[in-house]
Amino acid sequence: MKYLRLAIIGFGTVGQGFAELLAARQDWIRHDFGLEVTLVSVANARDGFIYHQTGLDIPMLLELAASRRPLTEHPGVTHWANTLEGLTTADADVLAEATGTNLHDAEPGISHIRTALARGMHVITANKGPGALAAEELFALAHQHGVELRMESTVMAGTPILSTISEGMAGAQISAIRGILNGTTNYILSAMASGRDYNDVLVEAQAQGYAEADPTADVEGYDALAKILILSSLVFGRSLKPGDVYRQGITAITREQVQRAVANGQRIKLIASIVSHPGEARLEAKVAPVELPLSDPLARVDGVTNAITIHSDTLPEVTIIGPGAGRLQTGQGLLADLLAIAKTS
Ligand SMILES: NC(=O)c1ccc[n+]([C@@H]2O[C@H](COP(=O)([O-])OP(=O)(O)OC[C@H]3O[C@@H](n4cnc5c(N)ncnc54)[C@H](OP(=O)(O)O)[C@@H]3O)[C@@H](O)[C@H]2O)c1
Repeated sequence: MKYLRLAIIGFGTVGQGFAELLAARQDWIRHDFGLEVTLVSVANARDGFIYHQTGLDIPMLLELAASRRPLTEHPGVTHWANTLEGLTTADADVLAEATGTNLHDAEPGISHIRTALARGMHVITANKGPGALAAEELFALAHQHGVELRMESTVMAGTPILSTISEGMAGAQISAIRGILNGTTNYILSAMASGRDYNDVLVEAQAQGYAEADPTADVEGYDALAKILILSSLVFGRSLKPGDVYRQGITAITREQVQRAVANGQRIKLIASIVSHPGEARLEAKVAPVELPLSDPLARVDGVTNAITIHSDTLPEVTIIGPGAGRLQTGQGLLADLLAIAKTS
């Protein structure tokens, strides 16, 4: 039996979804993977960082979070008001980082990840900021300390994109990646293809929880851009800066344009793409609305669903379609990363 002590920082939608999966699959993980995972620490912004040497009771934590009671009500915990102080003092083998994405300076997640890696902890994360802005630095730090950094759920949640490319397609020379990497904009464009107005659909998407109250990150293409930055580092080994990526959102797209595309047997989709031109060091990276013929597999991906097509020499076109968000869907990405680390550590 292998034993891993886990800390979760960020106990919102994703952190709780991941904890719920761990609790529900504990026996199965023990039996099929020979792995015993003990959740020793949890942190959120409101309550700070809690630690229990022999393990926290996950159902109790989920209950406290659901009833908006402080996590410090869990019996027998040591508490730090400051997350970084707790992380530097309490011991764990793996940090799951699930605080909010910040594309300006990647804080607070990047400090959590740097601290954990420097302490010799493996890190798994759903937070797009650190991977988008500092992948090279963080992978170097992980390497220096002999630990792993994995971020499957940063691109298409638990749908296995990064592991499919790095492990399943190992040895294939990848020339391009094109994807629908943002569910909110795809939901809006799909509804506009059936004749709806941008503003009406946006309000509906907000009411259904598919779009944030401030939808800028989605509709202006910043969320898809973050994923492009992660893919360029992880797939092509090249760190791009946000300014290196051409970005256009969907706010200027009219219902008439979408309807005209439909009448011509096409669909307008917000496509995030990276193309590597042979013999050129430069990558061409873009987020922009594109008219696609219905013969393109991405044209038929509707609603909040995400998809990615990978072009390579040995496998000319591989398309993966799946969820790009959600509590358990994103938790699944963290779980797969945790199990991958358990295999090799
Ligand atoms: N939701 C999805 O479907 C999805 C999919 C893929 C990737 N992601 C990424 O996953 C991450 C988490 O998303 P989410 O939907 O779970 O967000 P969320 O519900 O807003 O949760 C964020 C959590 O981070 C905590 N937090 C913020 N600052 C902190 C600090 N300094 N120390 C400790 N905890 C801190 C918050 O505490 P409070 O609870 O006290 O506010 C909250 O618990 C984001 O980076 C997001 O982009 C999400």
